[in-house]
Amino acid sequence: MTTLLIGADGQLGSELRQAFRDHDLVPLTHADLELTDRDQVTDTLRTRRPALVLNTAAYHRVDECEDFPDRAFAVNALAVRDLAVAAGAVGAVLVHFSTDYVFDGRQRRPYQETDAPGPLSVYATSKLAGEHFVRAASDRHLVIRTCGLYGLAGRQSKAGNFVETMLRLAIEGRQIRVVGDQIVTPTSAKELARKVRQLVEAGGSGLYHITNHGGCSWYRFAAAIFELSGIRPNLSETTSTAFGARAVRPSYSVLENSRLGRLGLDDMSPWQEALKAYLEDRRASKSVS
Ligand SMILES: NC(=O)c1ccc[n+]([C@@H]2O[C@H](COP(=O)([O-])OP(=O)(O)OC[C@H]3O[C@@H](n4cnc5c(N)ncnc54)[C@H](OP(=O)(O)O)[C@@H]3O)[C@@H](O)[C@H]2O)c1
Repeated sequence: MTTLLIGADGQLGSELRQAFRDHDLVPLTHADLELTDRDQVTDTLRTRRPALVLNTAAYHRVDECEDFPDRAFAVNALAVRDLAVAAGAVGAVLVHFSTDYVFDGRQRRPYQETDAPGPLSVYATSKLAGEHFVRAASDRHLVIRTCGLYGLAGRQSKAGNFVETMLRLAIEGRQIRVVGDQIVTPTSAKELARKVRQLVEAGGSGLYHITNHGGCSWYRFAAAIFELSGIRPNLSETTSTAFGARAVRPSYSVLENSRLGRLGLDDMSPWQEALKAYLEDRRASKSVS
């Protein structure tokens, strides 16, 4: 059974590569496949005839998406539609990833899969459109919303991740200002990838929320990164208004893994434990490289 992995060298892609390593896995990086090239996507699926397609590719520079909405919709929505149609045509199950940012953040309890989305930014709107296209194309799909992803591949990638950015700014001796009024659940790409594997094997379909457990502000997350790393940089808390990012983010986007729980599969760890494990993996991988 062939499994096609799109975005194979990204944060989540790299972890999925590990989680599905005993599959007949075809890992495709951006250099191998341009998701917005419909002919290339269709030809690849026709030739490879995968039973499973894992798509992690996205244009997710949230602020940049405000300036380039055409590109955001091309990658996150229209290309996803074409991929979903091509997957449906060869009878493949499509696993696609979406975001906590589809919610408007007005709620003060964790969002369930049944809660109504209300995207606030171009990025969020384009990702929600992508979700709809996947659902419309075929029943054979999983749409997985996650939040605040960090994985070891973020150390090398252009996009990076929050943990790596914080550690870099600290090493550079910079003054670090982080917002304290956006509550999220930082999530380990490694844990998510393992859970995706279990969910696929359990025959899950439809929409799922999968994150680590608990919630914190980005400021509290930054403070935990430094505390666990034993460094004391010049860190201060700010507000979204004072920070002035171009895209509006929800002030609260904690997700509840409701459907995963009903399948008896929600043993995701608290975000603090997942962060600790990441920092340990990071140290271990540095000492062997
Ligand atoms: N990161 C987060 O905090 C977060 C939070 C919630 C949801 N998500 C969702 O989770 C998924 C995975 O995120 P991630 O953090 O693993 O992202 P990532 O590290 O940036 O990986 C995405 C991969 O897709 C590739 N890619 C981008 N555009 C492409 C295109 N047009 N055609 C083919 N490949 C393309 C990228 O290659 P290049 O880098 O070479 O372009 C990269 O290897 C995405 O759907 C994202 O929206 C992420």
